[in-house]
Amino acid sequence: MFEISERLKKIPPYLFVEIDKKKKKLLEKGEDVIDFGVGDPDMPTPSNIIEAMKKAVENPKFHRYPFGKGTKEFRKAISDFYKKNYDVKIDPDEEICVLIGSKEGISHFPLCFINPGDVSLVPEPGYPVYSIGTLIAGGESYFLPLKEENDFLPDLGKIPDEIVRKAKILYLNYPNNPTGSFANKDFLKDVINFCKKNKIILAYDAAYSEIYFEEKPVNIFSIEGAKEVTIEFNSLSKTYNMTGWRIGWACGNSFLISSLAKIKENIDSGTFEAIQFAGIEALTGSQDSVAKMREIYKKRRDLFADGIKKLGFEFSLPKGTFYFWVKIKENSIKFVDFLLENGKIVATPGVGFGPSGEGYVRFSLTINESKIKEAIERMKKIWAK
Ligand SMILES: Cc1ncc(COP(=O)(O)O)c(C=O)c1O
Repeated sequence: MFEISERLKKIPPYLFVEIDKKKKKLLEKGEDVIDFGVGDPDMPTPSNIIEAMKKAVENPKFHRYPFGKGTKEFRKAISDFYKKNYDVKIDPDEEICVLIGSKEGISHFPLCFINPGDVSLVPEPGYPVYSIGTLIAGGESYFLPLKEENDFLPDLGKIPDEIVRKAKILYLNYPNNPTGSFANKDFLKDVINFCKKNKIILAYDAAYSEIYFEEKPVNIFSIEGAKEVTIEFNSLSKTYNMTGWRIGWACGNSFLISSLAKIKENIDSGTFEAIQFAGIEALTGSQDSVAKMREIYKKRRDLFADGIKKLGFEFSLPKGTFYFWVKIKENSIKFVDFLLENGKIVATPGVGFGPSGEGYVRFSLTINESKIKEAIERMKKIWAK
């Protein structure tokens, strides 16, 4: 009876329907499925943040529409976080907009700058929201392959001139989902020069900025001139195990921030202020839980790396995030299907993140060490057959 819009028709179908169905069937049968599929922290939100939320939710002043770019106090906490962690200056009044999770901002941002026919430069494999947000805004994505031989960095020099002329936004995400790779300073300097020269906005997704192991990732605003062209998206989701709370922020160039705030004013009414209050505790309270989280993910990474290395798999050791990107020799959908059928192990086929993801599988290390060990044992049995 109803016809969906052309825009909705263009949104590609969910790739993993069959795998999901099989997983559900196994779960219904009561099978012990080990799930490396979802990128959602398995640990609870730290208790100091929960306590702050309990207090805040009782306060009637937080029960009304939040509106605007977020509370002054939370924006100040975000600004202090950048100063303390990265020695970077962000003006809390002009250069921050609080979001309902970074996904909300990333998906709405193209509505501010993309007209039909405009192009977003989108890395692949990558988080699908960059291209879907562009599509919803009526634009098109030009995909930039991330290759292992190039440390999973895009080669900007290979983008054809006519595409560069049409491009309005360049998306980048480091620490990177799904590869676990980082961007170095020299590369980021080139990116900023490229964006300035071609009048392209850099939308920098730093959702995993605090999940790092050997070295801290470079903050984009520590690159000279970055603020002229950059909006960064970040979030409390992964750093504080708060994916369900829906709170994040955009920061950077004040014109980009006010444009996003204007679109948001007409779509949502902001982030529940009690959650923003708890967010202040997250950013300014004890950071012991964050240090502990890094230790836990590092242990899991090393355990998994050791196990799959012994099984003969190749990989670049992730420098951050909780993802593990493993090279395989066969088709990634078939591989994942085989793993589920024979080992009752769920992983995500690399091709789901873009064509350059073919030949890889993503394991999300959001399960505990004993389950990781059990998964390695199951894989040993499969490949010993
Ligand atoms: C690369 C990347 N960016 C952004 C997000 C969105 O996170 P949130 O909306 O919870 O802040 C995710 C979530 O998985 C992600 O993987």
